[in-house]
Parts: sequence; C-alpha cells; structure tokens
Amino acid sequence: MKKGLFITFEGGDGSGKSTQIGILRDRLAESGYDVLLTREPGGTKISEKIRSIILDKENSEMDDMTEAMLYASARAQLVSEVIRPAVEEGKIVICDRFIDSSIAYQAYGRGLGDAVAVINSYAIGECMPDMTVLLKVNPEIGSRRISERNEDRDRIELASEQFHKKVYEGYLDLEKRYPERIVGIEADRTIEEIAAVIWEKISRLIGE
Ligand code: ADP
Ligand code: TYD
Repeated sequence: MKKGLFITFEGGDGSGKSTQIGILRDRLAESGYDVLLTREPGGTKISEKIRSIILDKENSEMDDMTEAMLYASARAQLVSEVIRPAVEEGKIVICDRFIDSSIAYQAYGRGLGDAVAVINSYAIGECMPDMTVLLKVNPEIGSRRISERNEDRDRIELASEQFHKKVYEGYLDLEKRYPERIVGIEADRTIEEIAAVIWEKISRLIGE
C-alpha cells in the first residue's frame, strides 16, 4: 500500500500557523505533491459542530474535562474520516493543530495532566504525525497579532494570560520530550524567514 505523510503545525494562538501552512501547501503543490489541508478542531461535518460548541463564548461554564473530551471526539472523527484514509492513499496531509494542542492547552494549560494523553490515545490510535512544526512565539506577541486581526476572540483565546503562559511552557516541554518528531522554530521573525526554515525541514523529510 502507498503511504503518504502526516504533518502537523502547532503553536500558540497567533503564532503564524495558518500563514505558514498556506505557503507550504503552495510549495508542495508546485512540486507536484497531492496535498490535503485540514484543521482542528474541525475538518469534518461532525467535528465542525463540536468545534462550535467548544469555542462558543456563551459556554463559559464548560468543565475542563468536558472540553478535553470534546477536542478528542472531534479528533477521533477527523482521523477516521479524513486523515487516515488520505495518508493511506499517499497524500501529504497537513493539519493545523493536533494532539500536541490538547497536551499543551488541556494537560498543561487547564492542569488535567496525564489523563489527556490517555483519552487521546483512544482518539487517534496509531495515527501520529510524521513531523510536527512548532512555531514558538511568546504568548504576548501572539496575543498582539490576534488583536491586530480585528476578529472577535473565541472562548479559548479569551482565557487568562496565565493560562497562555502555561500552554507555551507545555509546548516547550513537548519539544524536549519528542525531538525526533517536533521541529521547534523561533517564529518571532519575518514570514519569509520562517517559511524558508520550514521548507528546508520538509524537503529533507520528503527527500526533495
Ligand atoms: P495562527 O494560525 O497561528 O493563529 P495566523 O497565521 O493566523 O496565526 O497569524 C496571526 C496574525 O499574525 C495574522 O494577522 C498574520 O498575518 C500575522 N502573522 C503571521 N506570521 C507573522 C510573522 N512572522 N510576523 C508578523 N505577523 C505575522
Ligand atoms: P482556532 O481558531 O483554530 O485557533 P488558531 O487560529 O489559533 O489555531 O481555535 C482553536 C482553539 O482551540 C485555539 O485557541 C487552541 C484550542 N485548542 C485546544 O485547546 N485544544 C486542542 O486540542 C485544539 C486542537 C485546539
């Protein structure tokens, strides 16, 4: 069976993931690769419905464990309906956020600890990313970029500064724990500089 690749992008809110994913998608497509973009939470009809429950500012009473399980549910559906079949067909799948977001935001940020990895092992099975690009900008810069975006902040973006600091520390710990999978990139640089570093890492992975 042909096997494609599964690449995920991670980082705090406003770290530049969507911007860099767009650039990478174009470069891979120009090189003739069959690329599929998706995002979390979302990417399927059911997962997008779960997304709207999670991010709704009206749901301020949501329990932290409920939140963690909803993210994992959205992920289980995305893996079985989209990611696994596409990788098996030989596509390069790029996902905006994946399991590391749950570890950073729910295990570290919300303080749920090891339970989050356990729940997610059921959600994803063997479907781990081949490479994860972690865009590192401190939370204050991310928050400033979001303010400039002029959109309403969702329930997670509205969480405290302290929460976003813990999320960032969680990402740095993950980078240390999984150096063979996670490529950390200092992302307080120009869009072009970051894109060049990402392309160098990805072209090595795909053997360009
Ligand atoms: P994310 O998907 O991680 O939330 P975005 O790609 O949407 O981040 O970027 C958030 C905002 O910051 C956007 O307005 C984007 O144009 C801007 N931005 C992205 N990368 C950079 C960068 N390297 N330097 C400055 N601004 C950036
Ligand atoms: P989104 O608008 O996609 O954020 P961004 O543009 O920053 O990627 O919203 C997703 C939010 O959900 C974001 O604040 C991170 C959070 N999140 C978690 O807390 N846990 C998770 O497992 C995932 C996938 C996202």
